[in-house]
Amino acid sequence: MIRGIASGLDEGRTTHLMEELCREAAAFRFEVAPNPCVGAAVFAGGREVGRGFHRRWGGPHAEVEALSAAAGSDAPRERWDLLIVTLEPCSSLGKTGPCVEAILASGISRVVVGALDPDPRHRGAGIERLRSNGVEVVLLEGTAPLERVAPHFARWTSADRLRRPRPWMIAKWAQTRSGQLTPPVGVGEGRWISTTASLEEVAVLRGRVDAIVSGVGTVLADDPRFCVRPPGDIGAAPLRVILDSCLRTPPEAAMLRSPAPGEGVGAVHFLSLVGVGAARAEALRAAGSSVHGLHGAESGGHVSLSAVEAWLWDAGVRRVLLEAGPTLLRACLAAGAVDQVRVYTGAVNGGRGPSMGEWLGSATLDGRAERECGEDAVLEGFPRPV
Ligand SMILES: NC(=O)c1ccc[n+]([C@@H]2O[C@H](COP(=O)([O-])OP(=O)(O)OC[C@H]3O[C@@H](n4cnc5c(N)ncnc54)[C@H](OP(=O)(O)O)[C@@H]3O)[C@@H](O)[C@H]2O)c1
Repeated sequence: MIRGIASGLDEGRTTHLMEELCREAAAFRFEVAPNPCVGAAVFAGGREVGRGFHRRWGGPHAEVEALSAAAGSDAPRERWDLLIVTLEPCSSLGKTGPCVEAILASGISRVVVGALDPDPRHRGAGIERLRSNGVEVVLLEGTAPLERVAPHFARWTSADRLRRPRPWMIAKWAQTRSGQLTPPVGVGEGRWISTTASLEEVAVLRGRVDAIVSGVGTVLADDPRFCVRPPGDIGAAPLRVILDSCLRTPPEAAMLRSPAPGEGVGAVHFLSLVGVGAARAEALRAAGSSVHGLHGAESGGHVSLSAVEAWLWDAGVRRVLLEAGPTLLRACLAAGAVDQVRVYTGAVNGGRGPSMGEWLGSATLDGRAERECGEDAVLEGFPRPV
């Protein structure tokens, strides 16, 4: 029996529970990234009375979910005596309140933690705050290794990333069976590859990022709106950021029109090369957008991707959805700027433009998962840095 674990829960059962919580938590990895996957369970006298998980980025943390599940159980709060959690509870204010405060408010007297927070700015702080308030904390290191449960979080909190912060970038694209991003002429109005079910999933994803990033090639070819429609959260529409080095976007672009009823739209920002086309910049500003001059890439005449990342970070953007054509998509993948991919392969043969097949064939995707959405095949994963 580990000292501090409630009666009825020996080390073997606790370790088994920890593994179960880790496994279930990891199922939400693509929804929570860059946040960690976390699971938690509340006990009363050795009986589990509430279980919770961090299910989506910006949503409640696992501890808070477990506590509210316990509140809905038949066990009165004064009998709750133990919380098991796979990762050290957070002690700082993020998108949600600190979990340590919720645990302290619950009156739980013992907490078993599976792993320390890897972020050196917070490591140990949650445990220390609990202990200094009289809560007994047992650290069962090795039972919830982050490299297995949430390897993406280890990347997010790596020394390099903390030194030069950049947003978490999710690249999403739809491709034909041959890996091309544009369907053959005459199919899907020359534009659509995936089915309605996939478009609805993307609408939800758009409502869960801070910004959508695309290239001027897509704007000129498709005249997209990049809006959020139901079932996405239209009240949480992300910024729309277009990489347009020479400001080729016409001020009449659909993106610059007012939202239609039932549509959520974020502010539009064009990132161009410093000093290009003052008159074009003025016309785009007059149409309601903002234009920002960035320095160019060393390799060519485009805006520099690292300058784009720095601009996004300074604008408060932490989670980005890249919805670009093959030119910008491949540039971001080659630069190692993409942290996560979601690829919809529609039931369409052939297509136009370069294929993503070669990249997909050579990339290693951590946490890789394949599933179906309507008639489309969906592939998700975290590209391993090269
Ligand atoms: N199936 C899908 O998921 C999907 C999604 C989006 C688009 N598409 C299709 O893709 C096609 C358009 O492809 P595209 O490749 O022209 O569009 P794109 O990748 O969205 O835009 C490319 C443009 O981005 C600009 N850019 C700015 N900074 C860049 C950088 N650092 N590196 C690379 N490019 C940079 C470049 O123009 P400047 O140099 O002028 O800035 C470049 O020409 C359309 O047919 C569209 O329907 C498909």
